[in-house]
Amino acid sequence: MDSSALIALAEKAAHHAYSPYSNFKVGAALISSSGSVYTGCNVENASYGLAICAERNAIFHAIAAEGAGMKIHSLAVIALGHEFPPCGACRQVIAEFAQSSTHIHFLQDGKVVSLTSEALLPGAFALSPSP
Ligand code: THU
Repeated sequence: MDSSALIALAEKAAHHAYSPYSNFKVGAALISSSGSVYTGCNVENASYGLAICAERNAIFHAIAAEGAGMKIHSLAVIALGHEFPPCGACRQVIAEFAQSSTHIHFLQDGKVVSLTSEALLPGAFALSPSP
C-alpha cells in the first residue's frame, strides 16, 4: 500500500475522532510488518489531560491485535483541515515499535513528507541495562 492509500485510511479514521474540546480531528493508519492495517483517531475527555492521540490509538490497536512483537512498517497521520507532524509523545511511542526501515507519512504544504522514526525523534529514550 502506498503512502496516499494509507493517508486516505487515516483521513477516514479522522472522521471518527471524538474531539469536542479542541475540534481537532486526527486520524492515523499503520501497516504492521506482518501486512495488516490498523487505524486510530484522537479521543478527548472533559478531563483534558486524558486525551489520547490518533497515532497512539492506532499503535495500541495493532499491539492488541498482534501482540507485543508488532512492528510498524509505515504509519500515516493527518488532521482534517490542518497539517502537522506527530507530537513528541507519539514520536516516542512510534520509536518503541519502529524499525530502521519504518516510515511515517504526514502532510506539509500540501505534500506528503515521509520520514524515519530516527529522523522524527533522534536519540529516542530507551532503557539501557543498569551499570
Ligand atoms: N493530537 C493527535 O491526535 N496527534 C498528534 O500528534 C497531536 C495532537 C490530538 C490530541 C488532541 O485531541 C488534539 O489533537 C489537539 O491537540
